[in-house]
Amino acid sequence: MDADSKAVMMAWEKPLMEAHAKAVCLGGGHVLNIGFGMGLVDTAIQQYSPVKHTIVEAHPDVYERMIRTGWGQKENVKIVFGRWQDVLSQLETYDGIFFDTYGEYYEDLREFHQHLPVLLKPGGIYSFFNGLCGSNAFFHVVYCHLVSLELENLGYSTQLIPLPVKDCLGEQVWEGVKHRYWQLDTYYLPVCQSAEDSE
Ligand SMILES: C[S@@+](CC[C@H](N)C(=O)[O-])C[C@H]1O[C@@H](n2cnc3c(N)ncnc32)[C@H](O)[C@@H]1O
Repeated sequence: MDADSKAVMMAWEKPLMEAHAKAVCLGGGHVLNIGFGMGLVDTAIQQYSPVKHTIVEAHPDVYERMIRTGWGQKENVKIVFGRWQDVLSQLETYDGIFFDTYGEYYEDLREFHQHLPVLLKPGGIYSFFNGLCGSNAFFHVVYCHLVSLELENLGYSTQLIPLPVKDCLGEQVWEGVKHRYWQLDTYYLPVCQSAEDSE
């Protein structure tokens, strides 16, 4: 929760983060995650023992927690502290990339996508937290189409893998939470790769 009782990241997302990790680790190699949060996706990525695992995190408290809990000591982990927009010059090229930043807008996601041709290796896999308008089924579908089209214009094909989430989202999950940011029964996990590689 943030200081305003708005949920930033919730435990029900753990299986989703595990599925994202599996997708972006398919090719092994060097994996990039933008946004550490509760470290769910990074913990899952570590289980695939990537050769290198780079994490970009901007919030000083989250960064401090990463250091305190030993993430800076892991042999294959490199932490880049700062907003991804400000640390692009410190990034390399990756076999898998995951993007999940709280408090940013669709425009930020679009801007990040403009950098994919530089950041993602040929054959690499990209995924992002697909919470786009997650409280409205109609607009969610519209956003899913929009983001897929925009990625297509950049040369990427996107598969949206349906994952049922209804059973892990009982009423009790949202008790005390101001913004119920997800209200749909199915989560569509994006798996993007260069259109040439997916043929
Ligand atoms: C929803 S959490 C990520 C949750 C994570 N996927 C997990 O599995 O626990 C979003 C994180 O992104 C970080 N963040 C937000 N904007 C960012 C930016 N521009 N650059 C880097 N990190 C950012 C936040 O500080 C927060 O830790």
